Amino acid sequence: MDSAMPAPFDKNNPFPARLVDRRRLSSPASQKDTQHFSVSLEGSGLSYKCGDSLGVFATNNPASVAALLKAAGFTGDEQVTIPKDVSPVALRQALSTRLALNGPTYKFAQLLHDRATDAADKARLAAAIGEVDPEKKKAWMEQREFLDLFLEHPSARPAAQEVIELMRKLMPRLYSISSAPSKYPQEIHLTVAVVRYETNGRQREGVCSSYLADRARMHEADLPIFVADSHFGLPADDNVPVIMVGPGTGVAPFRSFVMDRATRGAKGPNWLFFGDQRKDHDFLYADEWAAHLQSGALTRLDTAFSRDQAAKVYVQDRMRENAAELWKWIQLGAYFYVCGDAKRMAKDVDAALHAIVAEQGGLTPEAAVEWVKQFKKDGRYQRDVY
Ligand SMILES: Cc1cc2nc3c(=O)[nH]c(=O)nc-3n(C[C@H](O)[C@H](O)[C@H](O)COP(=O)(O)OP(=O)(O)OC[C@H]3O[C@@H](n4cnc5c(N)ncnc54)[C@H](O)[C@@H]3O)c2cc1C
Ligand SMILES: NC(=O)c1ccc[n+]([C@@H]2O[C@H](COP(=O)([O-])OP(=O)(O)OC[C@H]3O[C@@H](n4cnc5c(N)ncnc54)[C@H](OP(=O)(O)O)[C@@H]3O)[C@@H](O)[C@H]2O)c1
Repeated sequence: MDSAMPAPFDKNNPFPARLVDRRRLSSPASQKDTQHFSVSLEGSGLSYKCGDSLGVFATNNPASVAALLKAAGFTGDEQVTIPKDVSPVALRQALSTRLALNGPTYKFAQLLHDRATDAADKARLAAAIGEVDPEKKKAWMEQREFLDLFLEHPSARPAAQEVIELMRKLMPRLYSISSAPSKYPQEIHLTVAVVRYETNGRQREGVCSSYLADRARMHEADLPIFVADSHFGLPADDNVPVIMVGPGTGVAPFRSFVMDRATRGAKGPNWLFFGDQRKDHDFLYADEWAAHLQSGALTRLDTAFSRDQAAKVYVQDRMRENAAELWKWIQLGAYFYVCGDAKRMAKDVDAALHAIVAEQGGLTPEAAVEWVKQFKKDGRYQRDVY
């Protein structure tokens, strides 16, 4: 291929990459399973920037597919046509690679109700469908995957085609890239929390995080990936200070940022706020941060280990404790970055930032809101939250 030509690999034509490293970052005694992955880009023509994400197409766990087929009374050889496709495929293939096994809807419950031959099955489904309390109705469905609904209503046996038409497509998952292209131009690193939990009496796992952790084959060119461009990234000026707030897997892009600035000898100061459950078990990349502090590539590191003491301590508490210094950095032109959990953490960090701006800048709460809006508009307050 002509090196000046754009890489042909993208979301519609993913590159079959090799997984070249997989190791656990959290200790075996951790309540979490956070892992580091390295994916080789060799032969792809792909490149990436700090702040970009990697898209990964995973397949469903064969055990989950087999359980669903058994519960629904299918062999897996039934031919089905996925909506918008032209050619039919075997049901087992569709369930393995194309369709999401979670997220059934009430339309599906209605289908089961219509096909159920047992009165008790019909009555249970009718009760769920007819539930008037919206919270209860939402919770009932959220706790169930397609498998649960088949197991709980064994007399309901819709045709394979009817079932797959009510399933969502299996989508690729995005992961913030945790390596720097200046140091690893031919490799992409990921920092992934493996999703495992229990609901409705059954053990569950996240499709893609468990695929990477348990099923993806090492050194085989068969992990379909693409690079997703992002607005999130280091300032163009290497002298500008950066403040990074990244608890848990939110630290991923900041490993990339600090690695990049260190590799290129950028002079701008770097301040990281990191938090996780316990220092001895969840201090992701602790050795690397220690080395960066030693070399001066990392100017400051403030940590918040939430479960090492009776009262929770979070990254925003560390921000508040260091409000005057944080404001000084911002006055010196610092960019402020947040990455990680969108539901709780990013909201609370945003509130802490507003409080610091008001207090340190001597602004009313309303003026602080306007100030932060402008901070965002200027591209100096960037978030990558999920
Ligand atoms: C831009 C971007 C960057 C990201 N970067 C990272 C990253 O660097 N590292 C990382 O680990 N993730 C990252 N994510 C999240 C990642 O894309 C996936 O969403 C995550 O790995 C889960 O995917 P999965 O396929 O393993 O789980 P899924 O099969 O998608 O299952 C997840 C679902 O399971 C349910 N669930 C999960 N836990 C529980 C629970 N305790 N109780 C009940 N239900 C639960 C929820 O419905 C949840 O939506 C990022 C997301 C985005 C959008
Ligand atoms: N299966 C599990 O056991 C398990 C456990 C953790 C996370 N997860 C899931 O894994 C995914 C990724 O996890 P992650 O590693 O990125 O992060 P995370 O484990 O959710 O959180 C990292 C750190 O942030 C803390 N935190 C919680 N609420 C916060 C808030 N409002 N403000 C600031 N910090 C807060 C956590 O403390 P506390 O947790 O002590 O409150 C923890 O110390 C998430 O989707 C999460 O739901 C699963």
